[in-house]
Amino acid sequence: MTIQSVLVVEQPTLGFEAEKKIKLVDIEADKLVSNGEFTVPEENAFGRSFRDYENENNARHRVVEELYRQQHIHQTFEFVKKMREEYGKLEKGEMSIWECCEVLNNIVDDSDPDLDEPQIMHLLQTAEAIRKDYPNEDWLHLTALIHDLGKILIHPNFGGLPQWAVVGDTYPVGCGFSETIVHHKQHFKENPDYKNPEYNTKFGVYSEGCGLNNVMMTWGHDDYMYLVAKENGTTLPSAGLFIIRYHSFYPLHKCDAYKYLMNEEDRENLKWLNIFNKYDLYSKSKVPIKVEEVKPYYESLIKKYFPAKLKW
Ligand SMILES: [Fe+2]
Ligand SMILES: [Fe+2]
Repeated sequence: MTIQSVLVVEQPTLGFEAEKKIKLVDIEADKLVSNGEFTVPEENAFGRSFRDYENENNARHRVVEELYRQQHIHQTFEFVKKMREEYGKLEKGEMSIWECCEVLNNIVDDSDPDLDEPQIMHLLQTAEAIRKDYPNEDWLHLTALIHDLGKILIHPNFGGLPQWAVVGDTYPVGCGFSETIVHHKQHFKENPDYKNPEYNTKFGVYSEGCGLNNVMMTWGHDDYMYLVAKENGTTLPSAGLFIIRYHSFYPLHKCDAYKYLMNEEDRENLKWLNIFNKYDLYSKSKVPIKVEEVKPYYESLIKKYFPAKLKW
C-alpha cells in the first residue's frame, strides 16, 4: 500500500472523545502466571548482545551516539511543551491502526542497535511472543502491536521530525537529568535546562509522588502514541496506556531512577511494563511471522479497543 492511499490530511475537527475515561486494569500483574517459558536469546539481529551502545564496531554506533547528542542538547522543558501542544491537536491525518502499521513498515529506527528489520515484524514478533505466554490478556497483545506506531512522526506527512525527537530512551524534563541516562556524561551541559535552577534540581518543577502523568517526558514516539490512543477514546486499560507511554523510559525500568515521582497507580502499572519490556527488547530476533495469518486476530482487537479511524 502506498502512503498516499492511506493518509488523508484533514482540517482539525473538534469534539472527539478527548476526555473519555480510561478503564483501570483490575488484574494485578504480579499475580499472573505465564503459561510458557519465554526464552531470552543471547544475540540480537546483528549477532551481538542487546542494547550494546558502547561497541564502536557496531555499524550503527555513530548514528546512535549522534542521536543522543542531539536529544540531550535540544530536548528542553519548553520544547516538550511546544510539541505536546502541537501534536495534541491531532490534525496531521486520519487512518486506522492497521494502516499506520503498514506506513510505519518503511521506517527503520536509527536509535536501535538491535533492530534492522521492518517495523511491522518487530511489532508482530513482540505481540505474538506475549500472546503465547499471556493468552488471556488480549489488551496486552494489542498494546504490543501498537506500542511503536508513534514512530510515524519521522514521516514527512507527520512533521518529518528528526530521529532525536522521535526515538531513543526517554526521561523527564523539568527536573535534573539522572546519571543513569544513556551517554549521560557527554552533552547535557549544552542543554539550556542544565543550568536553569528551576529545572536542574532533583524534583525540579515536580514534587515527590506527584505521579508520572504530571511529569513531562522527552518528546518522542511513546508520548505521541499515548496522546493518539487517549484522545481517540481507546478503551485499553490504564496499564496498556502506561506501557505505550513509558516503554522507552529505561532510566526508570532498568535503573530505578526517578521512582520518587511515581504514585500508587504508576507502581501497579510498572509491573506490567516490566513484563512487556522483556518481550519488546528480546523479540527483536529473526523469527519470521506470516503477517496475513495473524492479521485477522489483530484486526479484531483493534475493533474492540479503537474506533475504525483515528485522528493523528
Ligand atoms: Fe519504542
Ligand atoms: Fe519496540
